[in-house]
Amino acid sequence: MAGCIDVSNLSKRYGDFHAVSDLSFSVEHGEIFGLLGPNGAGKTTTLEMIAGIRRASSGQVAIMGHDPHQDRRFTVEHVALQQQESSVFQYLTVSELVELHASFYPDPRKSDDAIEFAGLLDHRDQRFAKLSGGQKRRLAFSLAVVGNTDILILDEPAAGLDPAARTDLQASIRQLQTLGKTILYTTHHLEEATELCDRVAIMVGGRMQISGSPSSLINQFDATANIDFTLLESGQGESARAWCETHSLVEQSRLSPGGIVTVTTEDSDSFVRSLHHSDLRFKNLRIRSGSLNDVYTSLVKGD
Ligand SMILES: Nc1ncnc2c1ncn2[C@@H]1O[C@H](COP(=O)(O)OP(=O)(O)OP(=O)(O)O)[C@@H](O)[C@H]1O
Ligand SMILES: [Mg+2]
Repeated sequence: MAGCIDVSNLSKRYGDFHAVSDLSFSVEHGEIFGLLGPNGAGKTTTLEMIAGIRRASSGQVAIMGHDPHQDRRFTVEHVALQQQESSVFQYLTVSELVELHASFYPDPRKSDDAIEFAGLLDHRDQRFAKLSGGQKRRLAFSLAVVGNTDILILDEPAAGLDPAARTDLQASIRQLQTLGKTILYTTHHLEEATELCDRVAIMVGGRMQISGSPSSLINQFDATANIDFTLLESGQGESARAWCETHSLVEQSRLSPGGIVTVTTEDSDSFVRSLHHSDLRFKNLRIRSGSLNDVYTSLVKGD
């Protein structure tokens, strides 16, 4: 069955340079899908081809079965794009800009609701030119939201936002999902992507490397966990190191100042059981399983 957004074998070349190569993925209705990858990976190019504002060199995009170029009207009515860099009329105020954008859509949201979604109500009468960088990002989000479209494509909506604003943005994106919206977005914040996205795809050098739910990628890619514990007796450092080095479940171990031992293992449960049965006396046992950051780093390292 067709997804909400279907991308097949999509490529973009600039002369001899392959910005996006043979990209295929689908975003399901109601999903939050994160497109991740380093600077220059081809994320913006991909989003803009999906939204129909950049032409692909080859391959197809279907938005609910519609070609975003051939069926411009359908795309404009169903897809809102928050661009990485947006240019707007500098001398208009926040509310004037949001109202102007609302007028492009058949069934827009109330302007003030869209402004509130982006936490900008206090600045609704301020001219664009006088907004801070983070406030301009929030305005761009509010312009995307005001159309009340089924699909939101957001290119780094969290860039430049302070931590509280980022948390608010996450809540707003979740709220959009509960309203039935489908969200495709890019971010460089991997913890945020882990919390927010139903699925992510990681691109490097224009190519898709891996895609799936954050937890499946973490499991599939690296099942190891890091375990830390602090030795209670400072003299136990060497015997702790020797014990770890001969232990069959330990892949790597390290002794840090303060008697903190860190081990990497694929079987944290069994390791912790045998640690409890050992002669080592310790406190502050902490188990950290793999993260999306580990997956990302190992994919991007070869870039
Ligand atoms: N109009 C253009 N002409 C030539 N090259 C381009 C053009 N637009 C983008 N590129 C190149 O295509 C590659 C992908 O760019 P893109 O903007 O899609 O990256 P990105 O993944 O969005 O990066 P970032 O995380 O920095 O936003 C880059 O190497 C960029 O220099
Ligand atoms: Mg970009």
